[in-house]
Amino acid sequence: MRIKREKIYEGVAVIVNQAHPLKEQKVSLCPADDRYAGILLARKAAYLLRECIKACGGRQEIVPVSGWRSHAEQQQIWDESMAKSGEAFTRQYVALPGCSEHQTGLAIDLGRAAKQIDFICPDFPEEGACAAFRRLAAQYGFITRYPHGKEHLTGIAHEPWHFRYIGMPHAMLIERNGLCLEEYPDFLRQKPRMLSLSHGRTIQVFYVPCPEEQVEINLPEGCCQISGDNISGFFVTAWGCTA
Ligand code: DAL
Ligand code: ZN
Repeated sequence: MRIKREKIYEGVAVIVNQAHPLKEQKVSLCPADDRYAGILLARKAAYLLRECIKACGGRQEIVPVSGWRSHAEQQQIWDESMAKSGEAFTRQYVALPGCSEHQTGLAIDLGRAAKQIDFICPDFPEEGACAAFRRLAAQYGFITRYPHGKEHLTGIAHEPWHFRYIGMPHAMLIERNGLCLEEYPDFLRQKPRMLSLSHGRTIQVFYVPCPEEQVEINLPEGCCQISGDNISGFFVTAWGCTA
């Protein structure tokens, strides 16, 4: 199939950071948790978040703290953090307005239930249901978006509370290979990757650069999904491949 370059700015796997601001993206939102009606996420991300929290027995212990943000909200968070905590802290923990993946509806900050929860840096420790969530997250399509040791690539400090829905199999490939999202396109450019699932299905993922106005993608047989990377090409996922 032929796909236009303008589509690189759309899809579940877009990489949003200071160098690559979010372009306009239409997203259908719903509450991340029915007890917190004001915290919104993209529908599929919200569903899988709830499933993951249920699977790790964390419904009482884990609370959503911040989900989708408008540009104006991100600006307000930025301004308040600058006033309260200064520029060095703010640049480490708050994305520039327009460059926050919270604006995609695909990012969620989670905290351990407590009387007081810090909005910018919630506590999400490596114990109890929080640790169990972290272990299961990739299976449900979530990655720890700002890992320790990758600050020079993400531009953001380690944020153990910030999870990004990117879907399967991307989340598994990123986690198993110790990558951050910024490293993912180059990882796939090296060669297509296969992932075997426990029930015998195989998933193939590859990257297609799009240097021109459009590109021809040869889709393998089976069910395929394409997402732009918000930089220069497309991630292609094919379920049910044998080669
Ligand atoms: N805390 C993350 C980086 C954000 O503001 O999007
Ligand atoms: Zn966050």
